Amino acid sequence: MALDRMDSLKRTHYCGTVRPEDEGKTIVVCGWAQRQRDLGGLIFIDLRDRTGIIQLAFDDATEKSVFEKASTVRSEFVLMAQGKVRRRSSVNKDIPTGEIEVEVTTLKILGKAETPPFDISNDTKANEELRLKYRYLDLRREKLQKNIMTRHRIAKVTRDYFDENGFLEIETPTLIKSTPEGARDYLVPSRIHHGSFYALPQSPQLYKQLLMLSGFDRYVQLARCYRDEDLRADRQPEFTQIDMEMSFVEMEDIFAIAEGYMKRLFGEVLGVELSLPLPRIKFTDAMEQYGSDKPDIRFDMKLIDLSDIAENCGFSVFADTVKNGGTVRAICAKGGASVYTRKEIDKLTEEAKGIGAKGLAFIRYAEDTPTCAFAKFLSEEEFAAIMERTDCQKGDVVFIIADKKRLALSVLGNLRLTVAKRLDIIPNTYAPLWITEFPFFEYNEDTNSWDAMHHPFTSPLDECIPYLESDPGKVFAKAYDLVMNGIELSSGSIRITDPVLQNQMFKALGLTDEEAHEKFGFLTDAFRFGAPPHGGLAIGLDRICMLLTESDSLRDVVAFPKVSNSSELMSGAPAAVDPVQLTDLAIAIINEDKE
Ligand code: AMO
Ligand code: AMP
Repeated sequence: MALDRMDSLKRTHYCGTVRPEDEGKTIVVCGWAQRQRDLGGLIFIDLRDRTGIIQLAFDDATEKSVFEKASTVRSEFVLMAQGKVRRRSSVNKDIPTGEIEVEVTTLKILGKAETPPFDISNDTKANEELRLKYRYLDLRREKLQKNIMTRHRIAKVTRDYFDENGFLEIETPTLIKSTPEGARDYLVPSRIHHGSFYALPQSPQLYKQLLMLSGFDRYVQLARCYRDEDLRADRQPEFTQIDMEMSFVEMEDIFAIAEGYMKRLFGEVLGVELSLPLPRIKFTDAMEQYGSDKPDIRFDMKLIDLSDIAENCGFSVFADTVKNGGTVRAICAKGGASVYTRKEIDKLTEEAKGIGAKGLAFIRYAEDTPTCAFAKFLSEEEFAAIMERTDCQKGDVVFIIADKKRLALSVLGNLRLTVAKRLDIIPNTYAPLWITEFPFFEYNEDTNSWDAMHHPFTSPLDECIPYLESDPGKVFAKAYDLVMNGIELSSGSIRITDPVLQNQMFKALGLTDEEAHEKFGFLTDAFRFGAPPHGGLAIGLDRICMLLTESDSLRDVVAFPKVSNSSELMSGAPAAVDPVQLTDLAIAIINEDKE
């Protein structure tokens, strides 16, 4: 059977948009056969396009040749059908077109299909690897179609919002000199300058700052960014930032624009009224209370400091830790005793050890008296004080970590999430918040030096400038993150525009004048010619899409994503290239056998 031509027949409706009000109309629909049911004298085809499904009906009133053609249709055939909309005899309440069907008079088979390697439905059992190999088929599934359409909507709302607020979208180059965002660069060899490389931008950071110097005082870009780092569910090697920068502003102005954007997005995309201003919490408090700089505040279970009680107690694990400058912290899993049996606690202990803890102490209050291995080393008062401080009631379990502060907080921050998921206490809501006052430097115990927590153009808080060299631990940054449901959505800062301060920063970060000039000279030179005060932020578009579509992974909101080893399973990228291409680039491959 040859394929039919479209002739002059033109689509009049998308499948999912036909409604009972269209009864009696002659329409033309196009799409893929979701399935064909042949009941003898009756054939039904579910026709699918990006808007949904409509039922095509063929029966004894259908012209014989049309009926016969319908009987040859298989799943995923591409069809065009003309016919009259009529009411169905049995209504399908699950779909918006469930009350009607098309009584087909003309059927064209525009494309035949082999049996697809997996069932194209939301609840397909196919594993992700197979689906990604045939991504174009995977993308036909309703859930992914919806996600990609939501992504479009988000991008559209974004452009509208920023346009209405006076921002200009300006493209910045993607073959550039390295940007200092802290990940590894993807490099592109130059054919003309052998031995020299472009980097793909980790972000447009330097260029957007230069645009401020050029006078484009409100910039936005849906910018493609590239980072060669270990992938996770919320990290892709190439991703999109809603990157913005503003001149003549302070932090509050940037918060206001970003909050207005979030409100608009939630309203237009989800129909949810976001109440402003968003909560703010300082980095140090976020770490103390949630053990994370991207806290999920949809549930409570805050970290509790027990150091003062533990310091002089008889349990040496606790007391020695505090005496050696460490800390003893706890979380209380309300109602956790039934789930956290001994076996489950052992599993949690293994998780804690896996992320660096030396052990996990606990109080399990299931029966009339709490079970606690270390209670015998404590006085009655000390134990009572712990019970009271943690508000441990019957039915609860308290988990305690004694360690260096940074480790104790981060381990408990992780356990807090694990426990909340296990107890299923995380409400299905959105809880965005700002994290403010990030430390400027982070002490690197391996190298015994201070590392920058941000890119080197981030401005310190004015009152911290005197400590830049004398006491880096006391320096905080005009930097902020927007966090939602435990995911970092956005980060930004007010930038340094004073060349003297900028040099001080480079020095504090251990860069010599020559190194600084070699790396960032074109930016610092520009600051000598009139730099407006400026700042900005970049919001992860992929991450916003992931949260707003309630997806578990960025792979569900990126049309053609990469998997954890950074390859793209459908095309097979990355791949070897023609040796001639390498010769042109003066590149030789070494260690080919090394895997
Ligand atoms: P930052 O490096 O924090 O800041 O990136 C900003 C936001 O981009 C998103 N993001 C990612 N999304 C998916 N996959 C990745 N690998 C990935 N890496 C980052 C996150 C993150 O919050 N130039 C600065 C911004 C500024 O200072 O204006 C920057 O790039 O949502
Ligand atoms: P140990 O003295 O190693 O036998 O540990 C006694 C109990 O304390 C065990 O339940 C350990 O899991 C727990 N424990 C050990 N080290 C720590 C620690 N640093 N923080 C919390 N609990 C710990």
